[in-house]
Amino acid sequence: MSDLFVVRSLEEVRFWSRIMKEHSFFLRLGFRCEDTTLINEANHFYRTFEGIERRALAFTDDADPATIRQFNIEVHTSVCHIWAFKRKVLGLILTCQLPGGTNFPLLVDHVSREANYFRKRLEELNQGQLEPLHDAIIDENVFFLRIMADHAKFIGHLLDPSERKLVDQARDFSHDFDQLLFQARDIESMRPQSQTGPILSQFLDQNRVSVKSLRDFKKTARDLIDQCKIKSIIHPLLADHVFREAERFLEIIDMFEKSLTGKNNTWIHH
Ligand SMILES: [Fe+2]
Ligand SMILES: [Fe+2]
Repeated sequence: MSDLFVVRSLEEVRFWSRIMKEHSFFLRLGFRCEDTTLINEANHFYRTFEGIERRALAFTDDADPATIRQFNIEVHTSVCHIWAFKRKVLGLILTCQLPGGTNFPLLVDHVSREANYFRKRLEELNQGQLEPLHDAIIDENVFFLRIMADHAKFIGHLLDPSERKLVDQARDFSHDFDQLLFQARDIESMRPQSQTGPILSQFLDQNRVSVKSLRDFKKTARDLIDQCKIKSIIHPLLADHVFREAERFLEIIDMFEKSLTGKNNTWIHH
């Protein structure tokens, strides 16, 4: 029988190491050609996470838990490094030391928050203790709703201004997710009293509806970009990247829903 700790660890590392690898690529695209040190650093992180992804894919679910625990520690170190790199880049941009670069400060902050999330997940997995379900539901939604709101803002700003209808749609999603995020923060501040089954279940349902429609919008955008049908400076890989992150959020929402109704408890035990 395979160890749930191993299964969960590999699943998490496979998803997020690919994400970290792609962040390195996106950051590199936004540097100026004279920023060779930053470009080299980004390339270094690309190779690091490419290697981690390859190793995570090579392990099987019956791998020795001790080996995976050690692997998680190694990955954790690399994630700490890429987090520090992203924060350094954010500092350079905000002090106007990279004029003409094309990485938005919010995008750099965003990818550093994702690194921080990955780092925290690895710590929880290795410590063998996840947050209690009712806290996890609120915290994960607060995290991912903000990520989704950011994505809508990035898409809106990277589409060509002449794509008026799509820019409008992106702005609507941005507003929708900002509102959902405020609602989530309200529920957060009302805890523990807000942590009832019916309130949490309604919270998940409402978020799911919006995430599904954003996910579909991203899928459409991705396909249009792939077919070169719309004007934008969005890299096709970025369009796919934000689509996959929305899919991830949906999977997490569904898992919480199952846990709430007692059909599944992978979040609480491993
Ligand atoms: Fe990302
Ligand atoms: Fe993201």
